[in-house]
Amino acid sequence: MGEIGTKRWNFGANEVVERSSSLSIREYLHTLISNLDAGDSRPIIPLGHGDPSPFPSFSTDPSAVEAICDSVRSTKFNNYSSASGIPVARKAVAEYLSRDLSYKISPNDVHITAGCLQAIEILISALATPGANILLPRPTYPMYDSRASLSQLEVRYFDLLPENGWDVDLDAVEALADDKTVAIVLINPCNPCGNVFSRQHLQKISETACKLGILVIADEVYDHFAFGDKPFVSMAEFAEIVPVILFGAISKRWFVPGWRLGWMVTLDPHSIMKDSGFLQTLTNVLNMSTDAATFIQGAVPDIVGNTKEEFFSSKLEMVKECAELCYEEIMKIPCITCPCKPEGSMFTMVKLNLSLLEDISDDLDFCCKLAKEESMIILPGRAVGLKNWLRITFAVEHELLIDGFSRIKNFAQRHSKKQQP
Ligand SMILES: Cc1ncc(COP(=O)(O)O)c(C=O)c1O
Repeated sequence: MGEIGTKRWNFGANEVVERSSSLSIREYLHTLISNLDAGDSRPIIPLGHGDPSPFPSFSTDPSAVEAICDSVRSTKFNNYSSASGIPVARKAVAEYLSRDLSYKISPNDVHITAGCLQAIEILISALATPGANILLPRPTYPMYDSRASLSQLEVRYFDLLPENGWDVDLDAVEALADDKTVAIVLINPCNPCGNVFSRQHLQKISETACKLGILVIADEVYDHFAFGDKPFVSMAEFAEIVPVILFGAISKRWFVPGWRLGWMVTLDPHSIMKDSGFLQTLTNVLNMSTDAATFIQGAVPDIVGNTKEEFFSSKLEMVKECAELCYEEIMKIPCITCPCKPEGSMFTMVKLNLSLLEDISDDLDFCCKLAKEESMIILPGRAVGLKNWLRITFAVEHELLIDGFSRIKNFAQRHSKKQQP
């Protein structure tokens, strides 16, 4: 080594990056995985993730696989993409989304991205001007927080209210916003709460956003994962009231998050985004960004065109059954309570009653010990912004869910406070 080892170098850790990455779900999952007992021969029960694709019951539709193979074999999609995606993919997504709307989305408003996550990255970069702030839900999908923190965009949290079916606390939204607030993020159906917003509530949110002069970012990556009483209604229906940017992807509905195909749709019927210059800013960020793989884009018309309704309905039925089983099992465990029966997405939030437990200090401690003693992964609520809650994924094989809940029951019993004789 000699002199080189003692020399001063000008680069090193970046505190902004360290801070931002500490917010990510992956960091928590790594911590939990490091707590697993290698000597435990039982299969690990993974209820901490949002990717059921490895389970045979959640494999994608064969027509989607065919679409990808055909796209590759055609050799028509080996070229670079244009910044907003290739025209056939933009048109196919516009048509797919328009099926459920009261109007037609223009392909020009669709921008293809590498999964919904890249749409988040691009939009947050475009919104982050000095002094600006963004309103995020609490609990949240923490990639918004990470990306905002990385772009040094101030985050202000409004609560989702468990006592009101996880609806938005609109009074809080009004109180938080000021003239530097640029946007509000909504996730519907909701990760992590498992609720679905009603049409009336969506309308109220859009009216509030209009009053405050802010953009609505509608993350609909779980679009159509609604299996309760409320149907899924897209925020696109309210673009006449307030400018909306819609996010979506094939990741969840087709169970192919690894294909990295998403979209960002700008809905601006009154040219508010255009006239303010924001649309041009967004185009500039898109021009600086990497594109979704062209052969995946080339397959989109066949993926959305050839997947039969039965595929979606049978998978939705399966997710619904998992959600019901999950809710029933939660009710049998005294130290956790679920304020709202899940009606959408793949998750539910449960509150941990620490006063019923001994030697468990908080949600992270609960999850670390559960990983160690029961080979089971559940996300601590703090990972999504709610300390002493837990986020449970129910979109897994039925048997795994049953096994998982029997392990949680054993764990909870072992750690419950003993009655005084
Ligand atoms: C609410 C939410 N938004 C965005 C994403 C990212 O989606 P994608 O996998 O398409 O990048 C996820 C992934 O779990 C999510 O839960």
